[in-house]
Amino acid sequence: MKNPIFQAIHLYREREQRKWREENLEVISRIRSESFGANTEHLTYVHILDLHKDGVIKPHIDSIRYCGDVITGVSLLSDAIMRLRHQNQKDDLIVDLLMPRRSLYRLGGAGRYEFTHEVLGTTESVWHGKNIPRDRRISIICRDLPKSANRQPDSELVLKPIPEEM
Ligand code: OGA
Ligand code: MN
Repeated sequence: MKNPIFQAIHLYREREQRKWREENLEVISRIRSESFGANTEHLTYVHILDLHKDGVIKPHIDSIRYCGDVITGVSLLSDAIMRLRHQNQKDDLIVDLLMPRRSLYRLGGAGRYEFTHEVLGTTESVWHGKNIPRDRRISIICRDLPKSANRQPDSELVLKPIPEEM
C-alpha cells in the first residue's frame, strides 16, 4: 500500500491478505460484523502487521484516502498500549488503551478522526504503574472503504499478490 502512515511504523513486516481458510474467515467475518455498521462496504483485504518486539507505531491518523470511518484490529502474541492524542492538544489530551493479546479494538468517530493513535514501545508501556512488556505483536486489521470522494485515481491501492492461503 502506498500509504504515508507506514513511515510511522518501525521494525515491522506487513502483508495484505484477501484469501483466508474457512475457519479464519469466520473470525474475520465476526470482526467485521461487530465493528462495521450494517451494509458498510469494507476493504476486501485484511492488513496483517507484524511488529518486532522493539518496534513501535508512531502517532498518525490513517489517511482518508485509504480508509473509511472505522479501523478495527485484533492484537496477537503481545499485550500493548495504544495511545490516542488529540491532534490539536497532543500533550494535554491523551488516552491510553490497554490492548491485551487477543483483544479486539475499534477506532471510530473522534477516535478515528480527531486523535492520532500510536503503539508504544516496551519502556513506555506502563499501565496503572505496572510495566507491560512488549513482545513481537501481530495485528490483524480490517478497515472499511474510503469514501468515494476521497479515493483518488492516481493513488489506487496497490495490492501485492499473495501466493497462497494462510
Ligand atoms: C496502522 C495501525 C495499529 C495496530 O497500521 O495504521 O495503526 O493495531 N496499526 O497494529
Ligand atoms: Mn493506523
